[in-house]
Amino acid sequence: SVVILDHPREREDNDRIAIVRINRPDALNALNLEVRQELARIFRELTEDDEVLAVVLTGDEKAFAAGADLKDMADRTTVEMFHRKTERLWQAIADYPKPVIAAINGYALGGGLELAMHSDIIVIGETAQVGQPEVRVGIMPGAGGTQRLTRAVGKFQAMRICLTGRPIDGREAFAIGLASQVVPDTEVYETAYKMAKDITRMPPIAVQQIKSAILKGQDASLETGMALERAMFQGLFATADQSEGMHAFIEKRRPDFKGE
Ligand code: HXC
Repeated sequence: SVVILDHPREREDNDRIAIVRINRPDALNALNLEVRQELARIFRELTEDDEVLAVVLTGDEKAFAAGADLKDMADRTTVEMFHRKTERLWQAIADYPKPVIAAINGYALGGGLELAMHSDIIVIGETAQVGQPEVRVGIMPGAGGTQRLTRAVGKFQAMRICLTGRPIDGREAFAIGLASQVVPDTEVYETAYKMAKDITRMPPIAVQQIKSAILKGQDASLETGMALERAMFQGLFATADQSEGMHAFIEKRRPDFKGE
């Protein structure tokens, strides 16, 4: 399969983490239609899956994903691109309500970086290469490279990255705010997995509300975002996990969160 889902029920551990791995090594994990359809199907399936509390999205040591499949796109017309409706496939990932941690080694270019930017946390290897090289092949980013990237790193870095098409390495990506953490290449996956595990120990409803507040707030005025945050904050006082978390603190014991 071009995308592999490693589900907790297939592993020995009790970790409630799904690993989604892009698997087209011969093409540096280039995102053809089949890969995108598989990713969308898997994320839609995971949206209904209460067993899983966090996702690690990754590729292999050479590439997270080297972009949309250029061999497949070279002779397309506007009408064909329109009818592909790939925005629906991306939306399935954007709509996933629980934390997604991208673990990036090697290339994350074009659609590959755009895919990574659908995640909530990015752990990147020092020598990874990320960028928006679309301009070099006569087009422009089409799945967030001018939008999510600008929200992440600001106008001047986004302009540089999109207009020159020149990739930057993992250290620089971290320095400009395009990654949450940079680590030696060999530690990327392990670091991402540990972070996912940390998050799965947190109260799941609070976790989902935090993700939702940060993402929704990015597109709202401060006033609207603050109102949204306040309502969600107050709402959490209806959860058993709020009571458990605070009483565990007072009783000097570890909380046992149940997602209730
Ligand atoms: C199709 C690709 C590919 C791609 C690599 N391959 N990237 N196939 N689409 N995007 C294939 C190569 O054709 C080759 O297959 C094999 O993977 C290994 O790649 P090489 O080029 O031989 O490797 P290397 O010399 O190490 O160079 C790595 C690279 C280069 C710098 C990443 O492959 C590259 O520049 N790739 C294109 C990157 C890019 O422009 N991405 C943006 C695409 S546009 P064969 O069979 O020849 O050995 C885009 C638009 C998104 O993403 C819009 C939103 C939907």
